[in-house]
Amino acid sequence: TGYVIVAVLLAYLLGAIPAGAWVARRRGVDIRTVGSGNSGATNVQRSLGWGPGLVVGLFDILKGALAVLIAQRLGLTPPLAALCGFAAVVGHNFNAFNGFRGGKGVATSFGMMLLVDPQSSGVAFVVAFTVMYLTRYVSAGSLVGAVTTFAVAALLGRPWWELLIVGVVAAMMFYQHRENIVRLRAGNESRFGQKVTLPA
Ligand code: G3P
Repeated sequence: TGYVIVAVLLAYLLGAIPAGAWVARRRGVDIRTVGSGNSGATNVQRSLGWGPGLVVGLFDILKGALAVLIAQRLGLTPPLAALCGFAAVVGHNFNAFNGFRGGKGVATSFGMMLLVDPQSSGVAFVVAFTVMYLTRYVSAGSLVGAVTTFAVAALLGRPWWELLIVGVVAAMMFYQHRENIVRLRAGNESRFGQKVTLPA
């Protein structure tokens, strides 16, 4: 048990690495104060462009994937390895070193799910990307992706522990997107590619 607790804590710490905030700060920008104020790849792309956005997106995907991979390599069972991936998402969203604030967990959840269930996350990626492409709303695509992952996993008869984790991840993603949901309903959510003016 001690071993598992240490692995979960390390996964949380891995998830808490604030790639978005760091990449933006290197460019002299406080990501919390520009665009949507989120520290994820979408807002970094929106505020600083493709290069920094891709770096942050890939890094955040890697945090979720590595948390599962390392746990697997340490010999943890599939449910416990998935729990470590979940801990990385929690670390990303609720960062103890940043007043329990953080990102929205889209990239990190995707990275984690790629290793837990490549089939469901592969389908969800295609669906989410299509929604993003058609609507230009990254938030709407992300939320559809979370629901799709759960639906496909359930249809494929995946184990109960995976459905539990995917369900909680999806619920967390809706909670983190609560402001986006208000904007989507009001019709003033920002579209992908809509630039923001940086403070001088
Ligand atoms: O990656 C999170 C995305 O779904 C929304 O980001 O910055 O538009 O709130 P943002």
